[in-house]
Formats: sequence, C-alpha cells, structure tokens
Amino acid sequence: MRYDPDQNGYYGEFGGAFIPDELKENIGQLAERYVEIIESPKFKKEFTTLLKNYAGRPSPLYFAPRLSEKYGARIYLKREDLNHTGSHKINNALGQILLAREMGCTHIIAETGAGQHGVATATVCAKLGLKCTIYMGAVDVERQALNVARMKMLGAEVEAVTAGGATLKDAVDVAFAYWVAHPEAYYLLGSAVGPHPFPDIVARLQSVISEEIRKQLKEQEGRELPDWVIACIGGGSNAAGAFYHFLESDSVRLVQVEAGGHGTEGNEHAASLTCGTEGILHGSRSMILFDENGEVREPYSISAGLDYPGIGPLHAYLAKTGRSTVLAATDGQALEAAREAARLEGIIPAIESAHALAALPRLPFGADDVVVVNLSGRGDKDMPTYLREFGL
Ligand SMILES: Cc1ncc(COP(=O)(O)O)c(C=O)c1O
Repeated sequence: MRYDPDQNGYYGEFGGAFIPDELKENIGQLAERYVEIIESPKFKKEFTTLLKNYAGRPSPLYFAPRLSEKYGARIYLKREDLNHTGSHKINNALGQILLAREMGCTHIIAETGAGQHGVATATVCAKLGLKCTIYMGAVDVERQALNVARMKMLGAEVEAVTAGGATLKDAVDVAFAYWVAHPEAYYLLGSAVGPHPFPDIVARLQSVISEEIRKQLKEQEGRELPDWVIACIGGGSNAAGAFYHFLESDSVRLVQVEAGGHGTEGNEHAASLTCGTEGILHGSRSMILFDENGEVREPYSISAGLDYPGIGPLHAYLAKTGRSTVLAATDGQALEAAREAARLEGIIPAIESAHALAALPRLPFGADDVVVVNLSGRGDKDMPTYLREFGL
C-alpha cells in the first residue's frame, strides 16, 4: 500500500530505526520476520479468535443521534471503549504478545501513560503466564490510580519513573534503557512510535478498527466510506487503526486531534504536529517538541495518554503531505466534549478520546456527511479528574 513504510521503515522523510548496537540484532530479526508472522494463517486465526472471544470484537459502530442533531451531520462513534480492558490498546497487546511468543521471549516490558496500555499488557501477560514489567511516570501513577491498581491485580510489576517530568516520555526512556541492558526481553510498545518496525506492527494490529468500520458503515449507511474519520493522537495507535483502511481513499478526510493543553500559543501543550520540528526521539525521525536549547521539551496535557512530545512517523507523514487535517484541542475543550458525550449520549469517554470529540464543533460538515469519531477508551480511569474539574 502507498502508506506502507519502505524497507528501512521510512514514511517519506519520517521513521527509520535509530537504535544502539545492543538492540540491532533483536530489532533486526523482528523487522525481518514481522510481516511473515502477522500475515501467516496461524497467526491470523489465533489473533482473530482472541479479538472476538477475549476482547469482545467487533466493537459497535454507534449512530449518535443527539450529537448528530447538534453538529448537523451523521455522527457515528466507534466504540473501542467497550473492548475488554476498556480501550483500543488490547488489540495491539494481543497481537504483539503472539509475536513475542513467536520470537521466543518470556519477559515482557512496556511503557504506559494513561495506564490503558499497561493494563492491556498486564492482561495478556497474565493470560500467557509471562513476566510483565510496566514503566509509568510517577505523575501518571498518581493521576491514573485505578489503572495502577488493575495492573497490580493482574500480577504485573509497576515501576514508577521519577526522572524528568515523570510522564510518558520518561517512562519510554527508562523502558528503552532497560531493554538496551536486557535485549532478550520483548518491548511491547503501546503506540505507533519507536524504531522500525514498531510503528508498522502497531498500525497493522490496530487496523482491525477501520476494517470493521467499513463493514459496519456498509450495513448501516449502504456505503463503506465515511466522509470524515476523527481520532485523538498521543503516539498515534488508535488513529493509525481508525485511518488504516481509508488511507488510500482520498475522499475520506482524516482528522488528527492532538493535545492543546493550556493553548498552543504558550509552551504547555503536547501538540507536536502543530508546534514541533523534525528530529529524532525514541528511535525514529518525526515531529518533536524541542525547547530553545534543542532539548526535548516537557509536554503538558490534562490527558496522560496524549502527554507526549512526539508522534508516530506515519502521522507526521500524513500531516506533512496534507493527507490529514491536524487540530489541537485544549484541556478545556476536551473536558467540555466529555461532558457533552455523557449528557447527550450517555457515554463517558476517556479524556484522551474526548479530544477527538472536541473536533466536532470545529469542522465544516455538510448535512449528509458521515462522520466517524474513534472513541478510543472509556472514562472510568478519569473520574477523579472529571469530578474535580466539574466540581461534582
Ligand atoms: C483511551 C486512550 N486513547 C488514546 C490514547 C493515545 O494513544 P494512541 O495515540 O497511541 O492511540 C491512549 C493512551 O494511553 C488511551 O489510553
């Protein structure tokens, strides 16, 4: 496909694999074998069965009548919040644990921001009886306490990272450092970031989201292609999955919503596409937030899952080539959108997914336009934030 990376893992000028010598052998083997493994009938059968019987797929595509009325278009929500463990992250975790098993690895490490990827990874490790260590920024351990408790209940070790801003970037830094020292471990990356082949592995495993949307729209609207697909972007995995089978259909407008924090005119945001510059972070070339000294800047977002100073290389490429539209939603806009989904549709979204919903008032929809918002996760983990912010 036109949007596959080249053999060195590049999407245009973005991507690649900037890795230390210690990891070259393992990542090289993964790069050589991943397509053959993921495309094999054995893998496909096992993955599809797990997605169906364990994760609960297909997730519903819900026509949202009151949001549709308010925004003057036919708005659908892709209900990834209803998956086992509460978000899209389980799709990738199930796929990669099968890949790790195939590569012969028994110790799984992972980073997490909102805790959803940590919970998904702890879940699949418990299921397969594998040792699991999750790295999580100390700030996120605090603001996503429910998910920390879930990971512990599932038998994972949770390492609170206090370095730097003690959020997602710092968790990834420490996970990579551990991996360099223990290359025999499998790093189950949670987003479409990192060195090649991880962005492509994650995009392929999450692509079940857009595969289902096509079928579900055909049933409900009589046509497979929507006019718009909207997703929030932290590292880009839910967006990659929601966009994947529409990438080559140019009539489908793809909207990436990043975290605008306190506003993109200042420095307190995580809007790497809107405000970043090209550079290298966590093993690949992409759009990164740097400070005036050329150091990676501390990002900020109310949402732990979007609080990251980079973005996956596919997403940087989509933005640069004009294939996608990029918006930044502030904390306030995301909170308002979360309250609106709760009050109009009876659905409490994750604060990450609320950023995607925050795009609805700001896009020029036509009355007959079919709009799909990827509702990447549920809001249980964010209840303390919602209660505090709304004074409930
Ligand atoms: C519910 C939810 N949505 C979105 C994200 C952002 O990640 P990504 O951009 O990889 O989908 C996260 C990350 O933790 C999340 O938990």
